Amino acid sequence: MFSEISVFLNLTERDITKMIKIQIPATSANLGAGFDALGLALDYYNYVDMEEADGIFIESLDGIPVPTDASNLVYDSAHVLYDICGKKLSGLTVRQVNNIPMARGLGSSSACIIAGLVGANELLGKPMGFDDLVDLSAQIEGHPDNTAPALLGGIVTAVFDGKRVHWVKQEVFTTLKFVAVIPDFELKTEKARACLPKEVSHKDAVYNLSRAALFSASLLTGKYENLRTAVHDRLHQPYRMELIAHARDVFDTAYSLGAYAAYLSGAGPALMAIVGDDNEFFCGKMRFALDRMGLAEWQVKEMHIDNEGTKIISR
Ligand code: HSE
Repeated sequence: MFSEISVFLNLTERDITKMIKIQIPATSANLGAGFDALGLALDYYNYVDMEEADGIFIESLDGIPVPTDASNLVYDSAHVLYDICGKKLSGLTVRQVNNIPMARGLGSSSACIIAGLVGANELLGKPMGFDDLVDLSAQIEGHPDNTAPALLGGIVTAVFDGKRVHWVKQEVFTTLKFVAVIPDFELKTEKARACLPKEVSHKDAVYNLSRAALFSASLLTGKYENLRTAVHDRLHQPYRMELIAHARDVFDTAYSLGAYAAYLSGAGPALMAIVGDDNEFFCGKMRFALDRMGLAEWQVKEMHIDNEGTKIISR
């Protein structure tokens, strides 16, 4: 009898405090030529538990260090949403599982921003819709090509006019593997943006826009033989590759192992290979090649497209 009551009390307590658990996918942005415009979501997830509290209580459940004060990106993004809705935030309990490696080009900061916004929106009874959340997350991040697919899933084409994001999400029905080769060092997006030219030629602009359009059309229609051409670009990869020793060797290896395409994921340093599901031993062979290049600390991670985006998985 006593234990039944205490179980009932615990459930009631949990109900009142409204602890929610959010699952947020990794993302790969740019997709070669679609700088700041294209991105897709991947089946590799961060998890964030969140509830209102009288103070800031932030914990990393997997030992990955995260800021534990108001500068924490999950907390800060939640705070922004509360402010906009005119609600006072007395504090939050936030527990993070950070599977997505930080500052590697797989959308770790976008995952934090989306977790904060979606969590806060849920705690407040969903005052904001998808459009608001897409806009707000791009305003916080500065570009939409990680935040939008992290929220929406699939492949997202997005134009950010500085205030609003004009976007289309498309689900991708494919068995393609997205294999990330993840260096053992970080590359901050600010640094990877600082090395880009201020202006480009008309010819280079055409080179990129034609390939960006080709990428999404080819991915969506299964014309994968186009992807190798589609990922070439002249706006960012040639400059950023200089910051990533061995990047060209990894691309050459990926193509020699039969990848459809290889590109710099987001601002890097992760390198992404797009591989057919019939290419059974691609990851093992890539691992072997990296070891022989002296890159034993680099990781190889096989992923697939996530079409669902961020989900509240319990409340
Ligand atoms: N489009 C962004 C960039 C993605 O390439 O800088 C990185 O967050």
